Amino acid sequence: MREVAIIGVGLTKFGELWDKSFRQLITEAGTKAILDAGIRGSEIDALYVGSMSPGRFIGQEHVGALVADSSGLTVMHIPATRIESACASGGMALRHAYIAVAAGIHDIVIVGGVEKMTDVVGSEATNILAMAADQEWEAFFGVTFPALYAMIARRHMYEYGTTREQLAMVAVKNHENALLNPNAQFHRKITVEDVINSPPVATPLNLLDCSPISDGAAALVLCPLEKAKEYTDKIVKIAGSGQATDSLALHGREDICTFMSTVRASREAYKQAGIQPKDVDVAEVHDCFTIAEILAIEDLGFVKKGEGGKAVEEGLTARDGEIPVNPSGGLKAKGHPVGATGVAQVAEIVLQLRGEAEKRQIPDARIGLAHNIGGSGASCTVHILEAV
Ligand code: COA
Repeated sequence: MREVAIIGVGLTKFGELWDKSFRQLITEAGTKAILDAGIRGSEIDALYVGSMSPGRFIGQEHVGALVADSSGLTVMHIPATRIESACASGGMALRHAYIAVAAGIHDIVIVGGVEKMTDVVGSEATNILAMAADQEWEAFFGVTFPALYAMIARRHMYEYGTTREQLAMVAVKNHENALLNPNAQFHRKITVEDVINSPPVATPLNLLDCSPISDGAAALVLCPLEKAKEYTDKIVKIAGSGQATDSLALHGREDICTFMSTVRASREAYKQAGIQPKDVDVAEVHDCFTIAEILAIEDLGFVKKGEGGKAVEEGLTARDGEIPVNPSGGLKAKGHPVGATGVAQVAEIVLQLRGEAEKRQIPDARIGLAHNIGGSGASCTVHILEAV
């Protein structure tokens, strides 16, 4: 297996982008990644794009071909593949591109992630997202994603004494980080009181405990590590890549407060990279709801099970903490265009490891981790990146 490097990143702004279409967003991100990598479009061997539900959000399927076409790549007739794994579509697209380069099937591969969610009304967006839950056992009965995560939050509070304030502190931290990210959807400082007093969505989760409905895109360029130095001297390699699944419905799990997909995917990635959780200098984790970040830092092994809330309260995950989590603002405040999220998380880690994260730079970051979840934990990818 060959070692693989990421030599280019591209990001659009996230938010309600009514003046930009799906194809404009992904083309903008892809063009930025190609320019950043310093490659010519004609050098690209294959394209992978993650998108969760473009058919329902904008009435467009067959987006592998669409993205290749709008990027001018169909003149070379390269293979273009769309990957769907709910909110983990982006991480999964990266994982498949990584496998293709590592296996020696392709050399230079572009990976995109894109979603355009704000062209439908909020209730319709909620219904579309709920299609990633178990239709027969959950969604049919009216359960939405906020509701599923609310059940997990209640159980975590009952089992481990996690407090309402600790949940709110995740949102406060991530909104504060997003103030330093020009691409973030929200540039609004909030307090614990703001979160607790925001409108209820699914108790105990309020509006400010939720990631928003967003538009946006992100892209990466991958190549074999040995070839990377032809393009850049700031080389970031993929040191570990893990993927795992769990039961689609929450009731199929022994413990709804542990995402076994995160545990399995991260252990696979740590083993491949030859590192321990304590070696991670910076992490982007899947905080689709405040409770999700608490679960993530526990399941990734940064803290013991049940101690996630306390860790946030003690500042362990702050930008100047022991393991800075979501310096980009996370899904909560940077935004969550579902198919783009997993790719954007990795782009942020690459910028951190290259020392190019501007005001949100974590000093001396050498090893970073990106954690992307599909649905309520039924699928997960974890990527560990290392500055070479
Ligand atoms: N965080 C912070 N502010 C938010 C927000 C969020 N998640 N969602 C909306 N807002 C703001 C809007 O910007 C708007 O502000 P303004 O009045 O200053 O313009 C205001 O709140 C109302 O926005 P609106 O779009 O009417 O909110 P809504 O009630 O329709 O939707 C949620 C709010 C929380 C229901 C929606 O964001 C949501 O469904 N989030 C979860 C998405 C999800 O499940 N993703 C998949 C995860 S697995």
